[in-house]
Amino acid sequence: MINGIDMKRIPQHIAIIMDGNGRWAVEKGKERSFGHQAGVETVRRITSECVRLGVKYLTLYTFSTENWNRPATEVQALMGLVLSSLEDEIFMKNNVRFQVIGDLKRLPQEVQDKLQETMAHTAKNDAMTMVVALSYSSRWEITEACRQIALEVAGKVKNGEQVDIENLITEDVLSKHMNTSFMPDPDLLIRTGGELRISNYLLWQIAYSELYFCDTYWPDFSEEDLQRAILSFQKRQRRFGKTEQQVEENK
Ligand code: IPE
Ligand code: IPE
Ligand code: MG
Repeated sequence: MINGIDMKRIPQHIAIIMDGNGRWAVEKGKERSFGHQAGVETVRRITSECVRLGVKYLTLYTFSTENWNRPATEVQALMGLVLSSLEDEIFMKNNVRFQVIGDLKRLPQEVQDKLQETMAHTAKNDAMTMVVALSYSSRWEITEACRQIALEVAGKVKNGEQVDIENLITEDVLSKHMNTSFMPDPDLLIRTGGELRISNYLLWQIAYSELYFCDTYWPDFSEEDLQRAILSFQKRQRRFGKTEQQVEENK
């Protein structure tokens, strides 16, 4: 037990909507990008804490498709931060594998190269996988998956193959065509910064995730805040549509 946390029931996959950087900075009379910079420090702390607690996947919403609509100066500052924060030290020190999801072709070439390099360098690390969602939105991801499946089906039709739509298009097939196909669905989704919305993040994958919202701005989100979220998760009974009694009986 760490601070009351049951180490045998740690969520395998935690997804985080890291929100509140801008407001954190503005309240201090600083530029919004100062908040983003402080947010990178929180990523380091929370990554180490997740590894320490035995979390296997940490998925961080870093830049959404909709965030492309922010002022160019802020987008540039964010891209610069992504580049500078992808130093290997944080991954190698914690034995963390780095992965990325999103529409990467929209990112500056320099950022794309650094992402590929970091993924290659950390590919053998196995304590935890950290997934950064960049230029990502769930509707983009689902639309892409549908396009891919449609192309595959069209290819079969063209080749004169028998197409069995019932089996070609299933929930499992859709999941396998998602950008996130390499990881399990999140057990726990945390949003910092006080907003009670999902903002186009992992809509398909969070069908049965436990949701946790807190007012703390991301730069102030501490290891204790993470522990509080995990404790809240551990107090809940996940029923997946069954009755309380059924779940108790199957324990
Ligand atoms: C989250 O913080 C980080 C990104 C979306 C890039 P925000 O920049 O959204 O901060 P607030 O919500 O304006 O405070
Ligand atoms: C969601 O935050 C995206 C990220 C944290 C990367 P936003 O600040 O962009 O969300 P909205 O626009 O307030 O819903
Ligand atoms: Mg925000």
